[in-house]
Amino acid sequence: VVDVRGVYSATGCFCYDPGFKATCSCASAITYIDGPRGVLLHRGYAIEELAADGDFDDVSYLLLFGDLPDRKAKALHSARLVAERRVHERLIHFYSGFLSNAHPMAIMVGVVGALSAFYHDKLDVFDAGDQVAAAYRVIAKLPTLAAMAYKTAVGEPFVYPRDALSHCGNLLHMLFAKPGAEYVVDPLAERALEVWMILHMDHEQNASTSTVRIAGSSEANPYAAIASGITALWGPAHGGANEAVIRMLEEIGSVDQIPAAVARAKDKSDSFRLMGFGHRVYKSYDPRARILKSYCHELLGKLQREDPLMELALELEKVALEDEYFVSRGLYPNTDFYSGIILRALGIPRDMYTVLFAVARTVGWISQWREMISDSTRVIGRPRQLYVGPAPRSFAAVDDRA
Ligand code: ACO
Repeated sequence: VVDVRGVYSATGCFCYDPGFKATCSCASAITYIDGPRGVLLHRGYAIEELAADGDFDDVSYLLLFGDLPDRKAKALHSARLVAERRVHERLIHFYSGFLSNAHPMAIMVGVVGALSAFYHDKLDVFDAGDQVAAAYRVIAKLPTLAAMAYKTAVGEPFVYPRDALSHCGNLLHMLFAKPGAEYVVDPLAERALEVWMILHMDHEQNASTSTVRIAGSSEANPYAAIASGITALWGPAHGGANEAVIRMLEEIGSVDQIPAAVARAKDKSDSFRLMGFGHRVYKSYDPRARILKSYCHELLGKLQREDPLMELALELEKVALEDEYFVSRGLYPNTDFYSGIILRALGIPRDMYTVLFAVARTVGWISQWREMISDSTRVIGRPRQLYVGPAPRSFAAVDDRA
């Protein structure tokens, strides 16, 4: 390895920042995070207030258009979301091509990417009307596509969207209704899923949102950009952590095994980490995790249900937060730590957790995409690199190579 920085220094001066720990890639008016203080605001509103008093349609409108809707705007927004729930019949055929044991995130990457093959009538990325049309389509159709991925996995027929139900009520209906049996959406479950969705809608320039922005900056269509976001979300260091937390808690199994798990997480020769702990931006308690934790208590209480994994999670948090290793590094529960417990209580299977995260985050992704593409100062995202390869050398004929 030869340091050639001197050779190429004439090309300019760059900041070497692996993982973009100190680099702002864009300016945005959507989400504000104060990591040290554990503050999260969307368009100036505290996440605590939005989760307590807002519904899906309020917060999706807020992220997309910048303000909470008045009554008339909200009615139009809701109606437009309902009108876009159905997907093209031929898109449905895609699902029969997947193996029934495929991970639903794998299916989502494929079918969301395929949306632009069906909805190419309004795909001028610089047309304000087309941008909004794509936003409605993608927010409204993701739950339908997600429910169809689930039904494929469990080998049940698809359930079509119901216009009379709310965004989250309809999603529960499409997941759990079975042929020949009336499914009544439980308002408690519907509201729990709604709060969960609000908490997952946007989180500024995380890995998946940055991916959507950078893919979209090439002027690729928004469906393709969202599909790239789904791919980035899938990994256990990002959205896949909600599934990984539940798997970890199941593996830990009992309270007496917690010290061993914590010791493993601290051991640098072991790749095991406490899933649902730590965050690039929050070095204090993630406000979304605080809300989800209290919502877990409330939901399990109202459902009169106990979940042994909840007891385990509470104890794991307690042990970790009394440990100097976690405290000194600012490692607290993040949004994924308690998120799976709520989804378990709602009867949602583990491999659908990250899919539901994608359904919720689609609101943020498309809002960020719209903000990016309508910015007149936008340029294609194109990071530089620190070259550490060989210095210039001459091509040798094959017999002359040492
Ligand atoms: N368990 C044990 N140690 C950890 C953990 C953890 N969960 N997270 C970070 N650390 C340690 C690191 O080993 C490192 O220690 P060192 O300073 O002795 O080398 C230190 O804390 C800093 O960690 P980094 O990896 O540098 O922090 P980074 O900001 O790059 O990573 C991340 C953040 C990826 C979230 C990390 O904390 C992690 O892997 N957590 C577990 C996975 C997870 O929960 N992901 C979900 C994130 S939230 C979301 O995407 C919705």
